[in-house]
Amino acid sequence: MQPEFWHERWSSNRIGFHRDAPLPLLVAHWPALDLAPDVRVFVPLCGKSLDMVWLTERGHRVLGVELSELAVRQFFEERGLRPAIHETSAGRHFVAGAYELIVGDAFALEADVLADCAAVYDRAALIALPPELRRMYAATAWRRLPAGCRGLLVTLDYPQAEKSGPPFSVAADEVHALLDRDWRIDAVERRDILANEPGFVADGVTALSTAVYRVVRRG
Ligand SMILES: C[S@@+](CC[C@H](N)C(=O)[O-])C[C@H]1O[C@@H](n2cnc3c(N)ncnc32)[C@H](O)[C@@H]1O
Repeated sequence: MQPEFWHERWSSNRIGFHRDAPLPLLVAHWPALDLAPDVRVFVPLCGKSLDMVWLTERGHRVLGVELSELAVRQFFEERGLRPAIHETSAGRHFVAGAYELIVGDAFALEADVLADCAAVYDRAALIALPPELRRMYAATAWRRLPAGCRGLLVTLDYPQAEKSGPPFSVAADEVHALLDRDWRIDAVERRDILANEPGFVADGVTALSTAVYRVVRRG
């Protein structure tokens, strides 16, 4: 999946993945991570997600990374924030309040950029990527997070043969195959959501569930 795919989605406003409220599964499962309020949360492939707003309302700081500058500019405009902008080798950083969003490639972020992220939140990031990019993503951004980092990973699971992604199906065995080396992984919830997703039903998908994993970076 080329960057142009995502740039085109943002420029034509075909962003069906964007939600106009925080994800209920985030709200339900984040508190059990028992993180200090002031920790920095890494939000890869962040789009302009309102989950970032929910996280900062908990007192957290957010480090997002997103390919689309349009998405990042919209995020700040929609909050009435005027970010300071600077460039580093990681990309173009937009900084305002508790937010730092980097317009850049998540796979290219070096460990020093992620070093003070004690938490991670992945919703519609791993599942946005085709199989070969999922492996690259696990071997770069996820591997470079510091020991002790903890967070949530939210996935979708459906018969991939019934529909092409994104979003892609990422079953539990793949989550483990990608991340077990570096992360302790506990499944905390699985919900059948087919009835809530008429688009999947219309495409002929016969089963759809979402899963939430609690993850802790091994030392
Ligand atoms: C399905 S959207 C999800 C956005 C957000 N997580 C949400 O829940 O609304 C995936 C996002 O990842 C971005 N993206 C794709 N590949 C990326 C990469 N290599 N680095 C940074 N962002 C990327 C896309 O531009 C898109 O905004």
